[in-house]
Amino acid sequence: MSEQTLSNLMHEDRRFEPPADLAENANVKAEAYDRADADREAFWAEAAERLDWGRKWDQVLDWSNPPFAKWFVGGTLNAAVNCVDRHVEAGRGDKVALHWVGEPIHDGVADTRDITYAQLKDEVSKAANALTELGVQKGDRVAIYMPMIPEVVVAMLACARLGAPHTVVFGGFSADALASRITDCEAHVVITSDGGYRRGAASALKPAVDEAVEKTGDLVRNVLVVRRTGQDVDWHGREEGGRDVWWHDVVDNASTDHEPEMHDSEHPLYVMYTSGTTGKPKGILHTTGGYLAGTSYTHWSVFDLKPETDVYWCTADVGWVTGHSYMVYGPLANGATQVMYEGTPEKGRWWQIVQDYKVTIFYTAPTAIRTFMKQGREIPDGYDMSSLRLLGSVGEPINPEAYIWYREVIGGGRCPVVDTWWQTETGQIMISPLPGVTAGKPGSAMKALPGISADVVDDEARSVGNGNGGYLVLREPWPAMLRTLWGDDQRFKDTYWSRWPGLYFAGDGAKLDEDGDIWLLGRVDDVMNVSGHRLSTTEIESALVSHPKVAEAAVVGAADDTTGQAVCAFVILRDSAGDGGEDIVEELRKHVAKEIGAIAKPRQIMVVPELPKTRSGKIMRRLLKDVAEHREVGDVTTLADSTVMDLIKSKETSAPAED
Ligand code: WTA
Repeated sequence: MSEQTLSNLMHEDRRFEPPADLAENANVKAEAYDRADADREAFWAEAAERLDWGRKWDQVLDWSNPPFAKWFVGGTLNAAVNCVDRHVEAGRGDKVALHWVGEPIHDGVADTRDITYAQLKDEVSKAANALTELGVQKGDRVAIYMPMIPEVVVAMLACARLGAPHTVVFGGFSADALASRITDCEAHVVITSDGGYRRGAASALKPAVDEAVEKTGDLVRNVLVVRRTGQDVDWHGREEGGRDVWWHDVVDNASTDHEPEMHDSEHPLYVMYTSGTTGKPKGILHTTGGYLAGTSYTHWSVFDLKPETDVYWCTADVGWVTGHSYMVYGPLANGATQVMYEGTPEKGRWWQIVQDYKVTIFYTAPTAIRTFMKQGREIPDGYDMSSLRLLGSVGEPINPEAYIWYREVIGGGRCPVVDTWWQTETGQIMISPLPGVTAGKPGSAMKALPGISADVVDDEARSVGNGNGGYLVLREPWPAMLRTLWGDDQRFKDTYWSRWPGLYFAGDGAKLDEDGDIWLLGRVDDVMNVSGHRLSTTEIESALVSHPKVAEAAVVGAADDTTGQAVCAFVILRDSAGDGGEDIVEELRKHVAKEIGAIAKPRQIMVVPELPKTRSGKIMRRLLKDVAEHREVGDVTTLADSTVMDLIKSKETSAPAED
């Protein structure tokens, strides 16, 4: 968001008060802020009391060795028991945990499954027994590469039950990206499926796993495969000394009895890889007690969840942190009934699902909202969505226009919109309105939640004060915070805690308005946000440079109406490659898709003779961004050779690639 848009936003004076009945019956009222301020640790201890513990903690927070936090020290618990077993034991076994909706529709009938908490408990126990039989032990890492089918939830919870940290890799990532994650966390077992349904067709997953496993040498002992699409797969079964095992062979017949162990509060729960400012993805480590306390409390407070009556739906893929915190751990720990959908948001399908299941709470991303806006309101207007009572947004700043459309067209003007700011690293929502307390402003994530301390500071770490912009920081530890980067404590310190000692720097710019409410302005580092997904400029540049025809590459995120930002690449070819050939742009786009995944494919690639550099050789991405966004090119005085920009601009007419 530019300064210009920002100052326009600041004149946004629409306010939406919480609906009276919601405010009156809200799970969390205004007093929570004062209570948390008075005693932050007592506040989070109360949140942790919402969980079932094997042994209660001795100490709420150990912050004696920052930035390495320990929460609920000495406590023990099991995440799967908290998400499943305890609801069954409390007599809620027949309650639906997942209304799962598959993408294909046969003769007008959708492929659906309702799974109760009792059934989920049996499935998780069976899978835990099957994984044990495959040699998975507490502490072992398990990679999961699956579509949005119930088995992915079962697989994650089975790992959690055993204390085997999972690393879920988004199904859209390539074999190379999968291989690098398997290698980094040394996973001996991969759970996958033959494929999943995307945009009306069966799309294979197993071949990418086969390729990734080949690349990782002898590391992977077993590949556990769910049959979803029935498509042909290359099979190397155990009978012939191979590593492939069908899920239905080992899970379906396993015992439903599984005695869960209570794990230490700080036992690793999962590793989630995310893009940073360098080429190598970072393995964000989340542990058990604090993460579960932070996600379940925020899911209950921010969405005002009433587990007996609400039907909740988070549209995020399980391959991202939102799928972990607000589809799996938070909602299930709260005993929610939720919708899980396998496919992509083809026209009207989401609203059909809202209507069919009477969804009451809906959580999605601004990029999806903007896509629907483009398609026109006639589509959602064709469905009965009167069941909705609360809407959430996550992943990138929501522009006021999209906010208002979401509120009016999807929410019928009655539902509050909670714009929730958080990160893979924070694990839980940090900044958001409380729906029963806060009068929402379109475009603002408003205030830090109770128990969270956010601030906006300048270069010298001084609070900028109301009416000013700067860097968003977090001043105090919080329960679901990342504990470190997998296998790299130093990088953890350097990345998040080194800019200003004692402050967590999130990488986002923000502004405080005159009321002290927070407006997020996007990343200030070399991280792009494409459709709410984090991509690193350096990672894509390394992918481009690994192509034999490319000598140098620079990548920038350019503003895009639908996806927020889009990947734009500038490349210099090697002399030996000549002009690269007619299909050079397509060739390079395919190459990036192979190295990272289709989501990282540049929207546009420009082959240029030179790149703008400072005298010290640093690429001036700011100037390239001007070109990519079709702006007048800005100040070029620090450029080593100022004619370079003319050379680049003369190439600007090259057509952007399709799709
Ligand atoms: C951005 C997703 C503005 C931000 C949960 C952050 C947002 C990054 C918002 C984290 C929001 C997320 N308003 N920006 N409501 N939510 N972001 O790790 O730049 O995939 O740093 O976590 O997304 O992305 P991540």
